[in-house]
Amino acid sequence: KMLIYGQIEQVREAVKAWKKEGKSVGFVPTMGYLHEGHKSLIDAARRENDKVVVSIFVNPMQFGPAEDLDSYPRDLNRDAKLCEDAGVDIIFHPEPEEMYADGFCSYVDMNGLTTELCGKTRPIHFRGVQTVVLKLFHIVTPDRAYFGQKDAQQLAVIKRMVKDLNVDTEIIGCPIIREEDGLAKSSRNTYLSEDERQAALVLSRSLKIGKQLVEDGEKSAKAIKDAITAEINKEPLARIDYVDVVDFETITPVDEIKGTTLVAIAVYIGKTRLIDNFIA
Ligand code: PAJ
Repeated sequence: KMLIYGQIEQVREAVKAWKKEGKSVGFVPTMGYLHEGHKSLIDAARRENDKVVVSIFVNPMQFGPAEDLDSYPRDLNRDAKLCEDAGVDIIFHPEPEEMYADGFCSYVDMNGLTTELCGKTRPIHFRGVQTVVLKLFHIVTPDRAYFGQKDAQQLAVIKRMVKDLNVDTEIIGCPIIREEDGLAKSSRNTYLSEDERQAALVLSRSLKIGKQLVEDGEKSAKAIKDAITAEINKEPLARIDYVDVVDFETITPVDEIKGTTLVAIAVYIGKTRLIDNFIA
């Protein structure tokens, strides 16, 4: 039977009991409003661990003042059903006060990796992500934690943090799950009107063009960026935040495709900011 806990202590005790029995623990941190993308992480955690913990917490610290913290979609009942069906053992669903008690003033931050891509328009975002994820790691003490490549920069940042700060958790990246028409699944897709939903296909479509270029042997980052940009600019409802080609490990711009390279885009469709990427 799946349990839903709101208190840090409850999770700690349950995990301690599991560890005494020698059980391995897989962890999937989320902000809820779960979809097939989240489900794929839970399924991977289920396959590779004895116990699975999912956290559902819309983390105020990673939202900028003008961002969508208040309107971010929430539906715990639906999420709980999805988790129970997927064989989750514990959902950790704390209130903000449980995570950020009065006087809270400690942060995890990074010098590299967070200045490019989403870091440009979301200057405090990754600090909030790192801080909450490290807190969650200390609460759940997972053997393995699962992150989607959908948020490729986040995945790179978490891998770096775990390495730098000696966190004893293996970080596992999982592929992007898409709608049948190509749109990457996202809780934020619910913000899109019908017209915008159609326009949003320009993200995956433009990346497909970029990917084809890479497969045909194109090495120039500029050529790939130009082709993607041109395709996005054909869509009147789309406004580019960034189209960038970076090293996947360091998240620094590269001129040429070599090693593991991340081709990432962020595009406003109306007021909704969507991201997508591929690894070249
Ligand atoms: P959230 O946006 O809910 O995403 C939770 C996890 O699901 C992330 O690792 C994300 O990359 C993954 N995910 C989302 N959409 C996906 C898709 N279409 N395919 C594959 N994986 C997908 O990311 C966060 O929450 C937060 O920043 C968090 C890490 C929980 C910290 O607050």
